[in-house]
Amino acid sequence: MKQGRVSKCGENRRAFLKTGMVTAGALAVGGALTPSVPALGQEDEKSGRLTKGDAAILRFLAAAEILETDLWVQYNELGGVQDNEVPGGSGSPPYTAALQVLDSDMPQYIHDNTEDEFTHEDFINAYLASKGADIVDLEPFRTLQGSKATGSSGKPRLTNLMELTVDTTWWTRYRSRTKNPDFGDTFPQAIPSLAVGKHPAIPRTDDDLTPHDHIQAIANTAGFHFGTIEQGGTSLYPSLAQRVTSVEVLRIVLSIGPTEAMHFQTWQDKAGNAPPLTDPKDPTLVFPNLNAPPFGGEDFQTNLIMPEPTIFLRRSLPVCSIVRPTGTKGAAMGAAKFLTAMGLFRGQSPAFFAALRDLAEDADDARRECEN
Ligand SMILES: [Fe+2]
Ligand SMILES: [Fe+2]
Repeated sequence: MKQGRVSKCGENRRAFLKTGMVTAGALAVGGALTPSVPALGQEDEKSGRLTKGDAAILRFLAAAEILETDLWVQYNELGGVQDNEVPGGSGSPPYTAALQVLDSDMPQYIHDNTEDEFTHEDFINAYLASKGADIVDLEPFRTLQGSKATGSSGKPRLTNLMELTVDTTWWTRYRSRTKNPDFGDTFPQAIPSLAVGKHPAIPRTDDDLTPHDHIQAIANTAGFHFGTIEQGGTSLYPSLAQRVTSVEVLRIVLSIGPTEAMHFQTWQDKAGNAPPLTDPKDPTLVFPNLNAPPFGGEDFQTNLIMPEPTIFLRRSLPVCSIVRPTGTKGAAMGAAKFLTAMGLFRGQSPAFFAALRDLAEDADDARRECEN
């Protein structure tokens, strides 16, 4: 048994060395094609006392957390509790009231989720620095115009919450007892009209504050987007954890990842309270009653917020209540594509997408090694 483990580590180490060479070549080519990627332009980011793979995984997670923080700050400025723990905005009472239709505690939850993301970002970058590794700085990409509605700080943003295409398949994915995306299965949208077109999840200007059902549609969009974002984090951490080497780095990803699941669980519950309606300013956007036909039943019922058990690893094993997906191959690039496809980076520069791709490729080249 012990021998088997040692031998497996040896195989992994050889695979890593081989991949390491491939990575260096790919980076050199990338550098030549995009000579001025700000913040991440070096062809070889420093890993310090971490393995190259651990540093790359943590840097991708740091980037994801910086982007998460940026979007949550925008939600908090307009719809969260306003205090000096998460400073910046001054709140939008009509938007906040619409969010509170989903749950009266929404401003507190938005505030706390925002604060959590700040700490994820700060901690991972500080840990990288403590190990002598390069950190992630996306500030050169803070160029997007955010909301002009009353309550917004108006500062430049990294992410765009005003033209979202929200994938809501997590709703049916976590309710399925027979399917798992790691087996190649696909899932229907809970809110099909959110998954096409471009929808604001925050008021863009004060014109979005009326009529009532329009600002409610924006709050409903936010309610589902919260779940979409946090289920992504819930999968990302276990997916990448499988390829870290250091037990301490493993502890970091195993300790942050489940907080994303706590966020997701909360948001899934709240999204189920989004009132059925049609947006009067965009009649293509319809929030159906998920408890009534053609919806309803196990795949849509709004109080089924705990993961239904489903197939895991092999069909011959019993079903299990699990996070899904957790496949590790290409997980970082998958996350980058998922965030891009939702329109979160609409308006960003080619250099931003090149930097994101570089970070994701490096994380996906990481292989678990034997710790010394
Ligand atoms: Fe996070
Ligand atoms: Fe999160």
